[in-house]
Amino acid sequence: MRQLTFLFILAVINIVSFQNCGQDFAVRSDLNLASFSAGSSCESQLQPAFEASYGSFLSSTCVACHVPGGPGKGAFAQSNPSAAFSAFLLATSDRIDTLAVSSSHASPFTGTQNQTAINTASATWNQAVAACKAGTGGGSEDSGVVTMPKVMDATATNKDITWNLDTEVASGGGGTGGATFTVAVRKVTAAGYTTYFFNTPRLKAGSKPLHIEDIMIKINGQTQTLGTTWIMANADVAANATVSLATSQLFLEYVDSASDTLAISIGVLETR
Ligand code: HEC
Repeated sequence: MRQLTFLFILAVINIVSFQNCGQDFAVRSDLNLASFSAGSSCESQLQPAFEASYGSFLSSTCVACHVPGGPGKGAFAQSNPSAAFSAFLLATSDRIDTLAVSSSHASPFTGTQNQTAINTASATWNQAVAACKAGTGGGSEDSGVVTMPKVMDATATNKDITWNLDTEVASGGGGTGGATFTVAVRKVTAAGYTTYFFNTPRLKAGSKPLHIEDIMIKINGQTQTLGTTWIMANADVAANATVSLATSQLFLEYVDSASDTLAISIGVLETR
């Protein structure tokens, strides 16, 4: 059975290795928000929102394990707020919500006694995320684009896959003046696992200047929601110019097949 296992994010610095579910290796890093080439307007809004929502709950309730060097996966309970925030983004609020109330995860620290705190934290956080998205570039749902899927045919060498955002789209898009989106893909098979690597996402504007935000990847039609780094992309691109949208690389362990497809979901794409 084909199954997604993990989506890991390899940023440029601060790489942390840790043990992962037994047999295979895993590498993760702190999300280095400063490494985004363009402004990261949500960063300034969301870190305080994290501190006002999950921050103190996690740093008091999960601190026995979720700190640097601790046994817990993801150091989101550490006292350094920006490092805790980065680890939180990687772990995702959904998984934190689930495990915080799970009596089988790390009782007595986790369990249903945390439900009220989690409900409050998640309401505050989700509201901040929604406000942040709405407040950056005025992007509505309508301005998003999903490209058509393309077979990756990945090899061990980086290979560019490019979509024309006027003609190679599954939803949204059109009228961009011939803009293209490109991402490099390669795959590495080691110790029985195949890992896809995605890097150097670029937007090349055509005849019209563009504004772009929130990039996610879709493998075989499934949005990879754990890939939080590129979602912070936010850039203005002058007509006929090319802008690099992220310096971090996404990687995904996958039981691959020759027909695996890649599509790009762009939250906001607007002409300026
Ligand atoms: C006694 C140690 C311990 C405590 C306390 C603990 N955890 Fe964990 N946690 C672990 C370990 C070990 C792992 C890695 C193995 C696993 O996934 O179960 C983990 C993994 C996780 C993951 C998965 C992270 C990822 O990136 O896959 C989440 C989310 C998580 N814990 C949430 C919490 C939350 C929220 C709390 C506090 C309410 C908490 N844990 C308290 C030990 C702990």
